[in-house]
Amino acid sequence: MKTVIGNWKMNVGTRESVALARGTILALRGKKVIPEVVVCPPFVALSEVRKVVARSHVGLGAQNMHGEEQGAFTGEISSRMLVELDVTHVILGHSERRHEFGETDEMVNKKVLRALEAGLVPIVCVGETSEEREKGEAKSVVEGQLRKAFAEARLRGKTFVLVAYEPVWAIGTGSPATVSDAVEMHEFVLGIMKDIFPSMKNGQIKVLYGGSVDGEDAYGFLREDAVDGVLVGGASIKPTQLNEILAAAIDVIEGQQAE
Ligand code: PGA
Repeated sequence: MKTVIGNWKMNVGTRESVALARGTILALRGKKVIPEVVVCPPFVALSEVRKVVARSHVGLGAQNMHGEEQGAFTGEISSRMLVELDVTHVILGHSERRHEFGETDEMVNKKVLRALEAGLVPIVCVGETSEEREKGEAKSVVEGQLRKAFAEARLRGKTFVLVAYEPVWAIGTGSPATVSDAVEMHEFVLGIMKDIFPSMKNGQIKVLYGGSVDGEDAYGFLREDAVDGVLVGGASIKPTQLNEILAAAIDVIEGQQAE
């Protein structure tokens, strides 16, 4: 099963989020196979989007949360608040959070542990900068991010984890990684995750690619076995692009079933 996550960032308000969520549901209506689709609107739109996606195939995700359960953290949102809104997924450690808001690996780790405890599926973002890639450090950087993000984490039977490999230089730039570079990194990520969680079962941890995925290149990524799905930013708020990405995921799943 391929996964498509829409990260709407700070780009849409409630009204637009509701329209996008409705469009997503319509794009999947009547399809024989359906990918796992999760939309991540801004916090303020979660409760309205929740009503739209209820009883549909579309899941609800948040773009961030705090590592503490509650307390004097003005302006922050806790896992408990998300669960109350039927949120099932939460993006953690996105590069914009790391680079614009100083989120450290330790903070990401705290959030991951809290999300797992709350029964949320963490979508943990990792990825190297262009300087790190040029220096040949892409793998060591990503390994460090993974080991720190999942320190002390335990996988229970029903726990699911998504890791999004998102090279920083590919996010919002219109220049995605090549499919072969992405596949190489995904295989590496999965190897590290197996080392961190030796008892992980097939399908319990998925590795998604993110960074300038659009309707045109989505199929190329999704058709790779090593790519369990895509985390889409800019293209996920453009209905035509999003429809093309969903269609690509459906094509790939149908192709797999026909094999
Ligand atoms: P992009 O963003 O698709 O606009 O590059 C991806 C992301 O930030 O998750």
